[in-house]
Amino acid sequence: MIVTIDGPAGAGKSRAARDLAKKLGFRFLDTGAMYRAITLKAAQLPIDWADTEAMARIAQEMELNLTGDRVFVDGEDVTDAIRTFDITTHTHHAADNPAVRDRLVELQRQIGSHQDLVTEGRDQATVVFPKAECKIYLTASDEVRARRRYDDLRSRGEQVTFEEVLEKQLERDTRDFGREYGGLRKAEDSIEVNTDGMTPEDVVRELEKLVRSCQRQ
Ligand code: DC
Repeated sequence: MIVTIDGPAGAGKSRAARDLAKKLGFRFLDTGAMYRAITLKAAQLPIDWADTEAMARIAQEMELNLTGDRVFVDGEDVTDAIRTFDITTHTHHAADNPAVRDRLVELQRQIGSHQDLVTEGRDQATVVFPKAECKIYLTASDEVRARRRYDDLRSRGEQVTFEEVLEKQLERDTRDFGREYGGLRKAEDSIEVNTDGMTPEDVVRELEKLVRSCQRQ
């Protein structure tokens, strides 16, 4: 069974998808982490961000492993390094690149081909797994999403202001919704859940209920 969770940044997808996968005994896939990992690799080399071919080559050649909660690039654990404000700000260079997207879509489908999966991202229901048995679209208001991201960054010691996070989130939303190839949109057969005012526990409970109802259909 494939469960897709798509939605804008800060809607609570990662935590919800991870906890839901654990409850169901499914594999969890954080596809944003894959775009982030390619961005980190490019930043380390470094390459010119405008060089789309070099970016595509990195996606083809790098060895990307998502094991449990950890992300490895060419054997190096990059789980924390891909979450910095700087990498978040540059990830659109990977996400906007059609060749990078094609490569990651291929990897995501491989992962979903032989196991039950809860996968989260922007294009999971629309592009990667259009035949998924259960499609969820998770959202929340701008303020709530930015507050979550701000609290998360601050808890990891990053010196950012709330206004800065809100402004970058707006830019990211514009890019995510406007992306020509693989842009964020709600699939017609997705169920929308607004997480404003919900605790992470409330969200996972609600999603588990939805998945159980998908399983009965
Ligand atoms: O979910 P996240 O914040 O970790 O995602 C990082 C970026 O990657 C986000 O700005 C959009 C992009 N992304 C994407 O284009 N497609 C996906 N399936 C997942 C993430």
